Amino acid sequence: MRQYIIAGNWKMNMGISDAETLAKELVEKAGTSEGPEMVLCPTYLALAKVAEVIKGSNLKLGAQDAHWEDDGAYTGKVSVSMLKEAGVEYVILGHSEQRSFFGETDETVNKKVKKVLAAGLKAIVCVGETLEQRESGVTESVVKTQVEGAYAGISAEDAKNTVIAYEPVWAIGTGKTASNEQAQEVHAFIRGLMKGLYSEEVAESVRIQYGGSMKPGNAGDLLGQTDIDGGLIGGAALKADDFIGIINAGK
Ligand code: PGA
Repeated sequence: MRQYIIAGNWKMNMGISDAETLAKELVEKAGTSEGPEMVLCPTYLALAKVAEVIKGSNLKLGAQDAHWEDDGAYTGKVSVSMLKEAGVEYVILGHSEQRSFFGETDETVNKKVKKVLAAGLKAIVCVGETLEQRESGVTESVVKTQVEGAYAGISAEDAKNTVIAYEPVWAIGTGKTASNEQAQEVHAFIRGLMKGLYSEEVAESVRIQYGGSMKPGNAGDLLGQTDIDGGLIGGAALKADDFIGIINAGK
């Protein structure tokens, strides 16, 4: 039985002080909550503060990206070892906003996944099609290319330390959620890809989150689908009660 994983991707929201307030509220209301694994992914700047606040609770820390080099002249970037030092356990990689605004490619995702796993952290690998791609019927080939690209050269043992987030780009921040059937269909397809790349065992153990306008009102139905093992939550993660509503939907 796969444990649900609900992660809040705070994106470029919540400065140190707001992040502290939100994390405190979450610790108060859900800090001892059992059930889904709960991960908070604030900006780099707020990681240390959020780590301090959630210490000793059931909430875990995640980052929104990482660079693939250890250190050096990479202005603006943060390395995996720095994230580890800050208490990070999960790293979101290949988010569609990174892909569309900042030149992320399947190749850079792959380098980052390797680095994150080599450091003993867990990667949340994001994949998903745009509206145009869905409408032209290439959703599966797009997702297949992204998954195969991200996992190139990753061993089966390492693959078990990853989570995949299926995030249809047209559903992110738009209020439009994929229907339960649309989401389940792609999730099952991704699980099949993992079986082909690795084995039934790996495919059955890797958790596949849905992301894209998930909220308390639709989380229960989405999480009820056979191959949906959690959520990567943007907008609704910025309000403690909404985030907790989604966590409760996974219990
Ligand atoms: P959303 O974002 O929940 O605001 O749609 C999800 C994500 O981008 O991870």
